Amino acid sequence: MSKPQGIRYGMVGGGEGAFIGAVHRMAAALDGDFTLVSGAFSSDSDRNLRSAAALGLDSARVYPTLQAMLAGESALPADQRMEVLAIVTPNHLHAPAAVAALDSGFHVMSEKPMALNLDEALAIEAAVARSGKLYGLTFTYSGYPLVEEARVRVARGDFGVIRLVQAEYWQGWLSLPIDRDGQKQAEWRTDPARAGLGGCLGDIGTHAFHLAEHVSGLAVEAVSADLATHVPGRRLDDDVAALLRFEGGGRGVLKATQVAAGEENGLRLRIYGEKGGLEWSQMEPNTLILRWLDRPAEIVRAGGPGLDALTTARLRTPAGHPEGYVEAFANLYGSFGRALRAGAKTPAAGTVDWFPGIQDGLRTMTFIEAMIENSAGMAKWTSLAGVADARRRAQSPGRIQG
Ligand SMILES: NC(=O)c1ccc[n+]([C@@H]2O[C@H](COP(=O)([O-])OP(=O)(O)OC[C@H]3O[C@@H](n4cnc5c(N)ncnc54)[C@H](O)[C@@H]3O)[C@@H](O)[C@H]2O)c1
Repeated sequence: MSKPQGIRYGMVGGGEGAFIGAVHRMAAALDGDFTLVSGAFSSDSDRNLRSAAALGLDSARVYPTLQAMLAGESALPADQRMEVLAIVTPNHLHAPAAVAALDSGFHVMSEKPMALNLDEALAIEAAVARSGKLYGLTFTYSGYPLVEEARVRVARGDFGVIRLVQAEYWQGWLSLPIDRDGQKQAEWRTDPARAGLGGCLGDIGTHAFHLAEHVSGLAVEAVSADLATHVPGRRLDDDVAALLRFEGGGRGVLKATQVAAGEENGLRLRIYGEKGGLEWSQMEPNTLILRWLDRPAEIVRAGGPGLDALTTARLRTPAGHPEGYVEAFANLYGSFGRALRAGAKTPAAGTVDWFPGIQDGLRTMTFIEAMIENSAGMAKWTSLAGVADARRRAQSPGRIQG
């Protein structure tokens, strides 16, 4: 049987000089499942046109704004118009773009963090519910094959009841005030109007939190947080830490920082149960270390023996060829595409078609708000359910109209 035509997608953001848009394009193209058909790549019109030309896009499908793109694409015949909008802009546009796209009948694949705050995230949830469209969030690391292997082994009880979770994400690139010197990626990430409530917290703390909950299979019930800003004059946190209380009594520690001078992308997850534990590091993605109480440690390798079928489904090359960042993104796109083709409304947990969606987004936005509330006050613990309930009660419908 021949492969169906690629799913048509458009992109907002990701113009010349941008970081993650190009990664999305590589990932979406990797398995031939998606075809880029339209874009509003930059608010700078020359840059927008140059970016589109470099990508070989039909000039009729390049739009000056997202609003023009949604209108222009909606006017095309159904078998030509884009089906999915990929949102790869700075954070302040995530929610308005997602709500407008969903309400115009398009599926959405968005960058994290989901929105500037939980109110905006709840507005996206409402737009997903009324549109019936799919919504995916690129929590990249959950797309790595050995992260899936770790999740499966925890879920099937290999380690017994989970007691300890240690999630850390160490970067050093914001050690100096490069945001004030106009470095493009740093500049908006330290501006509350464009980054959101959290700095490092929203940028990479959410990745660590998502991984901790996703792999442990346990929800964080409460946080005890400490947010710091080390670089003078910076307007958002650049270094965060928290104690975590998990459902069922497990305890955790989360550390995310962007001022660990010299660190690259030191994302590491360790989880321990009654019988043993596991360790996975993003910079050694093909290796999963298992530790046991009653026998020597084991090294599980991508492409090696003993892997679950859900892991091998996420592998592309034989053992020893590193499968990294772009491939992890591609796995999320692949799952999203299969779910879309199957007409699914939500990600199917525990299957090869799973991808991070609305619920993952709401959890991470609740985490951000609980961390900020706790760090600012004197309470020892802040409950995530308390924060989420308060926002839902206060929510006024239709706040974001796109
Ligand atoms: N999942 C991950 O691992 C990961 C990694 C990096 C970044 N991100 C997320 O991706 C997003 C983008 O980050 P980045 O580092 O690529 O930023 P960037 O500054 O490199 O790129 C942002 C792009 O958005 C464009 N843009 C801004 N306003 C626009 C508008 N009104 N209309 C159209 N385009 C507009 C800019 O011109 C630029 O091309 C952020 O939300 C970030 O948190 C995620």
